[in-house]
Amino acid sequence: MSTLDPSFSQHLQEDELTPDQYGDFISSLPTTGFLSQYRGFWFPTKFMQGVLSLRKHFQAHDTDILMMTPPKVGTTWLKAILFAILNRKHHLDLQKHPLLTNNPHILVPYLDLHLYNKKEVPDLTTYPSPRLFSAHLPYTLLPTSVKNSKCKIVYLYRNPKDTFVSLWHFLEKIGMTTDSFEETFDKFCQGVSNFGPYWDHVLSYWNESLEKSQRILCLRYEELKEQPTTHLKRIAEFLGCPFSSEEETKGMINDISRLCSFDYLSKLEVNKSGTTHNMKNESLFRRGEVGDWVNYLTPQMSEKLDNIFKEKFHGTGLKF
Ligand code: A3P
Repeated sequence: MSTLDPSFSQHLQEDELTPDQYGDFISSLPTTGFLSQYRGFWFPTKFMQGVLSLRKHFQAHDTDILMMTPPKVGTTWLKAILFAILNRKHHLDLQKHPLLTNNPHILVPYLDLHLYNKKEVPDLTTYPSPRLFSAHLPYTLLPTSVKNSKCKIVYLYRNPKDTFVSLWHFLEKIGMTTDSFEETFDKFCQGVSNFGPYWDHVLSYWNESLEKSQRILCLRYEELKEQPTTHLKRIAEFLGCPFSSEEETKGMINDISRLCSFDYLSKLEVNKSGTTHNMKNESLFRRGEVGDWVNYLTPQMSEKLDNIFKEKFHGTGLKF
Protein backbone atom coordinates (compact mmCIF):
# COMPACT_ATOMS: atom_id res chain seq x y z
CA MET A 1 0.00 0.00 0.00
CA SER A 2 1.23 3.48 -0.81
CA THR A 3 2.50 5.41 2.18
CA LEU A 4 2.48 8.66 0.26
CA ASP A 5 -0.04 11.26 -0.67
CA PRO A 6 -0.89 11.02 -4.42
CA SER A 7 0.02 14.69 -4.96
CA PHE A 8 3.31 13.94 -3.28
CA SER A 9 5.38 14.05 -6.46
CA GLN A 10 4.55 17.71 -6.99
CA HIS A 11 5.47 18.89 -3.49
CA LEU A 12 8.11 16.57 -2.33
CA GLN A 13 11.76 17.32 -1.87
CA GLU A 14 13.03 14.10 -3.39
CA ASP A 15 16.21 14.38 -1.39
CA GLU A 16 14.20 13.53 1.70
CA LEU A 17 13.09 10.17 0.30
CA THR A 18 14.39 6.98 1.82
CA PRO A 19 15.09 4.10 -0.59
CA ASP A 20 11.89 2.42 0.66
CA GLN A 21 9.86 5.42 -0.50
CA TYR A 22 11.27 5.58 -4.03
CA GLY A 23 8.71 3.05 -5.32
CA ASP A 24 5.75 5.09 -4.10
CA PHE A 25 7.23 8.32 -5.37
CA ILE A 26 7.86 6.80 -8.79
CA SER A 27 4.31 5.40 -8.95
CA SER A 28 2.97 8.89 -8.28
CA LEU A 29 4.65 10.35 -11.39
CA PRO A 30 2.75 10.84 -14.68
CA THR A 31 3.39 7.87 -16.97
CA THR A 32 2.88 6.75 -20.53
CA GLY A 33 3.86 3.26 -21.64
CA PHE A 34 7.29 2.50 -20.27
CA LEU A 35 8.09 6.13 -19.39
CA SER A 36 7.57 8.35 -16.35
CA GLN A 37 7.71 12.13 -16.38
CA TYR A 38 9.97 13.75 -13.85
CA ARG A 39 11.03 17.39 -13.77
CA GLY A 40 10.19 17.98 -17.42
CA PHE A 41 11.84 14.85 -18.87
CA TRP A 42 10.58 11.35 -19.70
CA PHE A 43 12.56 8.55 -18.09
CA PRO A 44 12.16 4.81 -18.49
CA THR A 45 10.27 3.94 -15.31
CA LYS A 46 12.60 1.04 -14.61
CA PHE A 47 15.53 3.45 -14.30
CA MET A 48 13.79 6.11 -12.20
CA GLN A 49 15.25 4.78 -8.98
CA GLY A 50 18.72 5.17 -10.49
CA VAL A 51 17.92 8.73 -11.53
CA LEU A 52 16.72 9.69 -8.04
CA SER A 53 19.51 7.94 -6.19
CA LEU A 54 22.22 9.35 -8.46
CA ARG A 55 20.88 12.85 -8.00
CA LYS A 56 20.84 12.43 -4.27
CA HIS A 57 24.04 10.55 -3.60
CA PHE A 58 26.64 10.97 -6.33
CA GLN A 59 29.62 13.02 -5.19
CA ALA A 60 31.68 14.26 -8.10
CA HIS A 61 35.46 14.53 -7.87
CA ASP A 62 37.24 17.34 -9.70
CA THR A 63 39.16 14.69 -11.62
CA ASP A 64 36.05 12.78 -12.79
CA ILE A 65 35.20 12.43 -16.44
CA LEU A 66 31.51 12.10 -17.17
CA MET A 67 30.24 11.00 -20.52
CA MET A 68 26.71 12.20 -21.03
CA THR A 69 24.38 11.31 -23.88
CA PRO A 70 20.77 10.95 -24.82
CA PRO A 71 20.09 7.33 -25.85
CA LYS A 72 20.98 6.06 -29.34
CA VAL A 73 23.42 8.77 -30.35
CA GLY A 74 26.51 6.54 -30.27
CA THR A 75 27.01 6.12 -26.52
CA THR A 76 28.60 2.70 -26.93
CA TRP A 77 31.06 4.08 -29.47
CA LEU A 78 32.07 7.08 -27.38
CA LYS A 79 32.51 4.86 -24.31
CA ALA A 80 34.98 2.78 -26.27
CA ILE A 81 36.80 5.89 -27.49
CA LEU A 82 37.09 7.55 -24.07
CA PHE A 83 38.19 4.35 -22.39
CA ALA A 84 40.82 3.70 -25.06
CA ILE A 85 42.15 7.26 -24.96
CA LEU A 86 42.35 7.50 -21.18
CA ASN A 87 43.88 4.08 -20.65
CA ARG A 88 46.13 3.97 -23.68
CA LYS A 89 49.37 3.83 -21.71
CA HIS A 90 48.21 0.67 -19.91
CA HIS A 91 47.11 -1.11 -23.08
CA LEU A 92 49.80 -0.61 -25.66
CA ASP A 93 49.29 -4.11 -27.04
CA LEU A 94 46.03 -3.79 -28.93
CA GLN A 95 45.84 -7.57 -29.34
CA LYS A 96 45.20 -7.75 -25.60
CA HIS A 97 43.04 -4.67 -25.28
CA PRO A 98 40.09 -4.91 -22.81
CA LEU A 99 37.71 -3.79 -25.58
CA LEU A 100 38.36 -7.08 -27.34
CA THR A 101 36.69 -9.04 -24.58
CA ASN A 102 34.45 -6.50 -22.83
CA ASN A 103 31.51 -4.57 -24.13
CA PRO A 104 32.15 -0.79 -23.69
CA HIS A 105 29.25 -0.58 -21.22
CA ILE A 106 31.17 -2.83 -18.84
CA LEU A 107 34.31 -0.70 -19.07
CA VAL A 108 32.43 2.58 -18.65
CA PRO A 109 29.44 1.97 -16.38
CA TYR A 110 26.22 3.94 -16.38
CA LEU A 111 25.58 5.79 -13.14
CA ASP A 112 21.83 6.12 -13.63
CA LEU A 113 21.00 2.91 -15.49
CA HIS A 114 23.21 0.58 -13.47
CA LEU A 115 25.34 1.72 -10.55
CA TYR A 116 22.62 3.69 -8.73
CA ASN A 117 19.62 1.74 -10.02
CA LYS A 118 19.39 -0.39 -6.90
CA LYS A 119 18.52 0.06 -3.23
CA GLU A 120 22.06 0.24 -1.92
CA VAL A 121 24.13 3.33 -2.63
CA PRO A 122 27.23 2.13 -4.50
CA ASP A 123 30.71 2.72 -3.14
CA LEU A 124 32.52 4.44 -6.00
CA THR A 125 35.57 5.43 -3.99
CA THR A 126 37.43 2.32 -5.14
CA TYR A 127 37.39 3.39 -8.80
CA PRO A 128 40.83 4.55 -9.92
CA SER A 129 41.29 8.22 -10.75
CA PRO A 130 40.31 9.67 -13.14
CA ARG A 131 36.96 7.95 -12.73
CA LEU A 132 35.09 7.54 -16.00
CA PHE A 133 31.32 7.18 -15.77
CA SER A 134 28.41 7.79 -18.06
CA ALA A 135 24.74 8.73 -17.67
CA HIS A 136 21.75 9.81 -19.73
CA LEU A 137 20.62 12.60 -17.38
CA PRO A 138 20.07 16.05 -18.91
CA TYR A 139 22.40 18.76 -17.61
CA THR A 140 19.68 20.51 -15.65
CA LEU A 141 19.09 17.38 -13.55
CA LEU A 142 22.70 16.59 -12.75
CA PRO A 143 23.55 16.51 -9.05
CA THR A 144 24.76 19.81 -7.62
CA SER A 145 28.10 18.20 -6.81
CA VAL A 146 28.70 17.71 -10.55
CA LYS A 147 27.72 21.26 -11.42
CA ASN A 148 29.92 22.66 -8.66
CA SER A 149 32.95 20.49 -9.37
CA LYS A 150 35.65 20.91 -11.97
CA CYS A 151 34.96 17.49 -13.50
CA LYS A 152 34.93 17.28 -17.29
CA ILE A 153 31.85 16.38 -19.26
CA VAL A 154 31.91 14.95 -22.77
CA TYR A 155 28.52 15.11 -24.46
CA LEU A 156 27.48 13.43 -27.70
CA TYR A 157 24.42 14.18 -29.81
CA ARG A 158 23.21 13.15 -33.23
CA ASN A 159 20.92 14.10 -36.06
CA PRO A 160 17.40 13.77 -34.55
CA LYS A 161 16.12 11.71 -37.49
CA ASP A 162 18.82 9.06 -37.19
CA THR A 163 18.47 9.17 -33.41
CA PHE A 164 14.76 8.50 -33.68
CA VAL A 165 15.17 5.67 -36.21
CA SER A 166 17.87 4.09 -34.06
CA LEU A 167 15.70 4.44 -30.95
CA TRP A 168 12.73 2.84 -32.64
CA HIS A 169 14.70 -0.22 -33.74
CA PHE A 170 16.28 -0.56 -30.32
CA LEU A 171 13.02 -0.33 -28.38
CA GLU A 172 11.41 -2.88 -30.65
CA LYS A 173 14.33 -5.23 -30.34
CA ILE A 174 14.46 -5.17 -26.56
CA GLY A 175 10.65 -5.19 -26.15
CA MET A 176 10.43 -1.74 -24.55
CA THR A 177 7.57 -0.46 -26.65
CA THR A 178 4.12 -1.62 -27.63
CA ASP A 179 3.61 1.40 -29.90
CA SER A 180 3.75 1.33 -33.68
CA PHE A 181 6.48 3.16 -35.61
CA GLU A 182 4.04 6.00 -36.32
CA GLU A 183 2.92 6.25 -32.69
CA THR A 184 6.51 6.30 -31.48
CA PHE A 185 7.26 9.02 -34.02
CA ASP A 186 4.32 11.15 -32.89
CA LYS A 187 5.42 10.82 -29.27
CA PHE A 188 9.02 11.69 -30.17
CA CYS A 189 7.72 14.85 -31.86
CA GLN A 190 5.81 15.69 -28.69
CA GLY A 191 8.96 15.26 -26.64
CA VAL A 192 7.86 11.92 -25.20
CA SER A 193 10.87 9.67 -25.71
CA ASN A 194 13.47 8.03 -23.47
CA PHE A 195 15.25 10.86 -21.62
CA GLY A 196 13.43 13.32 -23.89
CA PRO A 197 12.36 15.81 -25.08
CA TYR A 198 15.39 15.16 -27.27
CA TRP A 199 15.82 18.87 -28.09
CA ASP A 200 15.74 19.86 -24.42
CA HIS A 201 18.37 17.24 -23.63
CA VAL A 202 20.72 18.51 -26.33
CA LEU A 203 20.10 22.16 -25.48
CA SER A 204 20.72 21.56 -21.78
CA TYR A 205 24.36 20.64 -22.52
CA TRP A 206 24.86 22.83 -25.55
CA ASN A 207 23.87 26.03 -23.78
CA GLU A 208 26.00 25.19 -20.78
CA SER A 209 29.00 24.33 -22.97
CA LEU A 210 28.94 27.80 -24.51
CA GLU A 211 29.76 29.28 -21.11
CA LYS A 212 31.94 26.44 -19.85
CA SER A 213 33.95 25.27 -22.82
CA GLN A 214 36.82 24.14 -20.59
CA ARG A 215 34.47 21.82 -18.74
CA ILE A 216 31.96 20.62 -21.32
CA LEU A 217 32.82 19.32 -24.77
CA CYS A 218 29.89 18.76 -27.13
CA LEU A 219 30.49 16.36 -30.01
CA ARG A 220 28.26 15.41 -32.91
CA TYR A 221 27.99 11.79 -34.11
CA GLU A 222 28.24 12.87 -37.74
CA GLU A 223 31.46 14.84 -37.29
CA LEU A 224 33.01 12.02 -35.28
CA LYS A 225 32.10 9.64 -38.08
CA GLU A 226 33.47 11.93 -40.78
CA GLN A 227 36.78 12.81 -39.16
CA PRO A 228 37.41 10.40 -36.30
CA THR A 229 41.11 11.11 -35.86
CA THR A 230 40.64 14.88 -35.74
CA HIS A 231 38.06 14.48 -33.01
CA LEU A 232 40.01 11.86 -31.10
CA LYS A 233 42.81 14.41 -30.86
CA ARG A 234 40.36 17.05 -29.77
CA ILE A 235 38.94 14.76 -27.08
CA ALA A 236 42.39 13.85 -25.74
CA GLU A 237 43.33 17.53 -25.53
CA PHE A 238 40.10 18.38 -23.78
CA LEU A 239 40.67 15.60 -21.25
CA GLY A 240 44.12 16.93 -20.51
CA CYS A 241 45.99 13.97 -22.01
CA PRO A 242 46.90 15.09 -25.55
CA PHE A 243 48.56 12.62 -27.88
CA SER A 244 52.31 13.20 -27.98
CA SER A 245 54.02 13.59 -31.33
CA GLU A 246 55.63 10.20 -30.73
CA GLU A 247 52.21 8.60 -30.23
CA GLU A 248 50.96 10.32 -33.36
CA THR A 249 53.96 9.14 -35.38
CA LYS A 250 53.44 5.60 -34.16
CA GLY A 251 49.87 5.76 -35.50
CA MET A 252 48.19 5.48 -32.12
CA ILE A 253 45.29 7.77 -33.01
CA ASN A 254 44.48 5.72 -36.08
CA ASP A 255 44.81 2.52 -34.07
CA ILE A 256 42.31 3.70 -31.46
CA SER A 257 39.97 4.97 -34.14
CA ARG A 258 40.04 1.57 -35.87
CA LEU A 259 39.70 -0.36 -32.60
CA CYS A 260 36.56 1.62 -31.73
CA SER A 261 35.02 1.61 -35.20
CA PHE A 262 31.64 0.06 -35.86
CA ASP A 263 33.12 -2.55 -38.19
CA TYR A 264 35.68 -3.68 -35.67
CA LEU A 265 33.60 -3.65 -32.47
CA SER A 266 30.47 -5.14 -33.98
CA LYS A 267 32.38 -8.17 -35.27
CA LEU A 268 33.93 -9.09 -31.94
CA GLU A 269 32.54 -12.24 -30.37
CA VAL A 270 31.76 -10.42 -27.12
CA ASN A 271 29.54 -7.98 -29.00
CA LYS A 272 27.95 -10.59 -31.25
CA SER A 273 26.93 -13.09 -28.61
CA GLY A 274 27.55 -11.54 -25.17
CA THR A 275 25.10 -9.86 -22.82
CA THR A 276 25.50 -6.84 -20.54
CA HIS A 277 23.07 -6.35 -17.66
CA ASN A 278 20.64 -8.82 -19.26
CA MET A 279 20.76 -7.04 -22.62
CA LYS A 280 22.16 -8.66 -25.73
CA ASN A 281 25.23 -6.72 -26.82
CA GLU A 282 24.35 -7.16 -30.48
CA SER A 283 21.30 -4.91 -29.97
CA LEU A 284 23.74 -1.99 -29.50
CA PHE A 285 25.16 -2.40 -33.00
CA ARG A 286 22.73 -1.98 -35.88
CA ARG A 287 24.06 -0.08 -38.92
CA GLY A 288 26.19 2.70 -37.47
CA GLU A 289 25.67 4.99 -40.44
CA VAL A 290 24.77 8.59 -41.08
CA GLY A 291 21.49 9.22 -42.87
CA ASP A 292 19.81 5.82 -42.48
CA TRP A 293 16.61 7.73 -41.65
CA VAL A 294 15.85 8.07 -45.37
CA ASN A 295 14.99 4.38 -45.41
CA TYR A 296 12.33 4.78 -42.72
CA LEU A 297 10.83 8.28 -42.54
CA THR A 298 8.28 9.47 -45.09
CA PRO A 299 8.91 12.92 -46.63
CA GLN A 300 6.14 14.26 -44.37
CA MET A 301 7.77 12.84 -41.25
CA SER A 302 11.12 14.22 -42.29
CA GLU A 303 9.64 17.66 -42.86
CA LYS A 304 7.84 17.55 -39.54
CA LEU A 305 11.06 16.83 -37.64
CA ASP A 306 12.94 19.45 -39.65
CA ASN A 307 10.39 22.06 -38.66
CA ILE A 308 10.38 21.11 -35.00
CA PHE A 309 14.16 21.19 -34.70
CA LYS A 310 14.49 24.35 -36.76
CA GLU A 311 12.22 26.07 -34.29
CA LYS A 312 13.72 24.53 -31.16
CA PHE A 313 17.32 25.24 -32.16
CA HIS A 314 16.67 28.64 -33.72
CA GLY A 315 19.36 31.09 -32.64
CA THR A 316 21.32 28.50 -30.64
CA GLY A 317 24.06 27.84 -33.19
CA LEU A 318 23.16 24.14 -33.28
CA LYS A 319 22.98 22.65 -36.75
CA PHE A 320 22.59 19.14 -38.14
P1 A3P B 1 22.01 2.82 -35.57
O1 A3P B 1 20.82 2.24 -34.90
O2 A3P B 1 21.68 4.02 -36.40
O3 A3P B 1 22.81 1.82 -36.33
P2 A3P B 1 23.91 4.04 -28.42
O4 A3P B 1 25.24 3.41 -28.26
O5 A3P B 1 23.82 5.42 -27.85
O6 A3P B 1 22.83 3.13 -27.95
O7 A3P B 1 23.69 4.28 -29.98
C1 A3P B 1 23.47 3.20 -30.84
C2 A3P B 1 23.75 3.66 -32.24
O8 A3P B 1 25.16 3.82 -32.42
C3 A3P B 1 23.31 2.62 -33.25
O9 A3P B 1 22.98 3.37 -34.42
C4 A3P B 1 24.58 1.82 -33.41
O10 A3P B 1 24.61 1.03 -34.57
C5 A3P B 1 25.62 2.93 -33.43
N1 A3P B 1 26.97 2.48 -33.10
C6 A3P B 1 27.34 1.54 -32.21
N2 A3P B 1 28.67 1.42 -32.21
C7 A3P B 1 29.16 2.28 -33.10
C8 A3P B 1 30.48 2.59 -33.56
N3 A3P B 1 31.54 1.99 -33.07
N4 A3P B 1 30.61 3.55 -34.50
C9 A3P B 1 29.52 4.19 -35.00
N5 A3P B 1 28.24 3.91 -34.63
C10 A3P B 1 28.07 2.99 -33.68
